[in-house]
Amino acid sequence: MNNLGQKVIYQIYPKSFYDSNNDGIGDLPGIIQKLDYIKKLNVDMIWFNPFFVSPQHDNGYDIANYYEIDSRFGTMADFEELVAKLKEINVGVMLDMVFNHCSTDHEWFQKALAGDEKYRKFFYLRKAKPDGSLPNNWQSKFGGSAWAKFGDTDYYYLHLYDPTQADLDWHNPEVRKEIYRVINFWRQKGVHGFRFDVINVTGKDERLIDSTGDIAQEKSLYTDTPIVHQYLKEMNQASFGQDPNSITVGEMSSTTIANSIKYSNPNEHELSMVFNFHHLKVDYQNGEKWTKAPFDFMKLKQLFTQWQEEMDQGAGWNALFWNNHDQPWALSRFGDTGIYREKSAEMLATTIHLMRGTPYIYMGEEIGMIDPDYSSIDSYIDVECKNAFKELQQKGISEKQAFDIVKSKSRDNSRVPMHWDSSQYAGFSSVTPWLMPTDQDQINVKDELAHGEIFNYYQNLIKLRHNEELISDGHIRMFLKDDPQVLAYERFLDDQPSKLLVFNNFYGQSHTVTLPKAFQKQAAQVVISNYDQQDINLQETLTLRPYEALAIKI
Ligand code: GLC
Ligand code: CA
Repeated sequence: MNNLGQKVIYQIYPKSFYDSNNDGIGDLPGIIQKLDYIKKLNVDMIWFNPFFVSPQHDNGYDIANYYEIDSRFGTMADFEELVAKLKEINVGVMLDMVFNHCSTDHEWFQKALAGDEKYRKFFYLRKAKPDGSLPNNWQSKFGGSAWAKFGDTDYYYLHLYDPTQADLDWHNPEVRKEIYRVINFWRQKGVHGFRFDVINVTGKDERLIDSTGDIAQEKSLYTDTPIVHQYLKEMNQASFGQDPNSITVGEMSSTTIANSIKYSNPNEHELSMVFNFHHLKVDYQNGEKWTKAPFDFMKLKQLFTQWQEEMDQGAGWNALFWNNHDQPWALSRFGDTGIYREKSAEMLATTIHLMRGTPYIYMGEEIGMIDPDYSSIDSYIDVECKNAFKELQQKGISEKQAFDIVKSKSRDNSRVPMHWDSSQYAGFSSVTPWLMPTDQDQINVKDELAHGEIFNYYQNLIKLRHNEELISDGHIRMFLKDDPQVLAYERFLDDQPSKLLVFNNFYGQSHTVTLPKAFQKQAAQVVISNYDQQDINLQETLTLRPYEALAIKI
């Protein structure tokens, strides 16, 4: 076993980390130049977003060649050097495997277009219905129909994402064989970690029937279908499962706890853990992403409670995260970007880092980055938000309102270049970057390391995960479930009397909670706190300061 519970994973979006050759785009040599920074944080593995050959219609999630590094990010030699240098500092590599679809520039698709029968079977090609309408009524997750015309033929191909991302037909064993070959190619380069992009939508119901038009019902026709478990077991056996040190995570779109237990329970031999996104939808109005609303704290708590406790009971394993390259910054959504920026960043970190699962830190989170302050839609690049901006206005929403919504939800928020210093391009590049940073004069690595407290706090959280068994291996139970301001839980081991109690105040006002009887009148040792805090004797109540996070051992 590889002590999954003790690991912390750092996520790097290569395009935005550091630009070594000054073309405005981050690259692999740039990451190599910043290894001292990564070493300081002391993480165990780095997940890299895709840097494979790609026309970049969806920032590398549209892969045209799975075996080569895109020249704008570097060369295979750079990659090998990166793996070797990371190994020297004991950091593993996790690659992003995008197999639900490939780019329409990929040779498989190009051969299919040219009429090659073998490759036509790699995709979902269907004719229009007898009445001339599209093969079915499914919607693309990036807006519009999920079908696009297949060249000059009578056929259409399925794309659940952008039209340049053609869905691969996993029912075809030849497709699966090619996929395992890709994984094994990278394994042989010393890669032990794999993140599988939207892997739970690979088992589409082959009949591809129309949905009722209800989006939840439509998703059920292609999400979490039983055959996905079969595919994962096969993939595990044919590739990473042969490596006792492998660490894998599945990105699970709209998944359930029951399925997630199956995906990640070690006895099932599927994956090490799962990303789910339910807790990041608590600021969606009526489940709609392209809306702007304050977050629903009670709902957030209830989701964490269910996912933490039930995954524990079913021996599943959660990936723990607030941020990634698809989300606006958590600090802008759930924290305070003003005077409590540091405290709230630390509180959010504490909330998930001391939970049961494997924490992920998205680059820049450890210095408390926030959404960029753009004033025009032209500053944004991402296809998804550009489409949404248009669609919102077509629905009658004013341009200003549509812009406000996009500003709070765009994926570009977190894709903004890393702020290394306060200079014009944030020390990321000496030329105009592909996406502009805006508030680097307030928030940057140089200042943070000189006199900030967030980075240091993350270092401490990571140290705790490495050393404290209650955190790496303990069970979890939530308490104060009805409290409207504090999220609290206990971590415990079956064979150990001491417990870890964790309190997180999600708001900028002090708040007093009444402790459960069992925790009252106990001597408590402080394990971590984002305020100056001495060991305490617990009484009946406990008062938490604004955005206070406190973990104590009793
Ligand atoms: C995942 C990726 C996202 C991408 C999508 C399609 O959700 O994280 O960035 O656009 O899959 O590949
Ligand atoms: Ca570059």
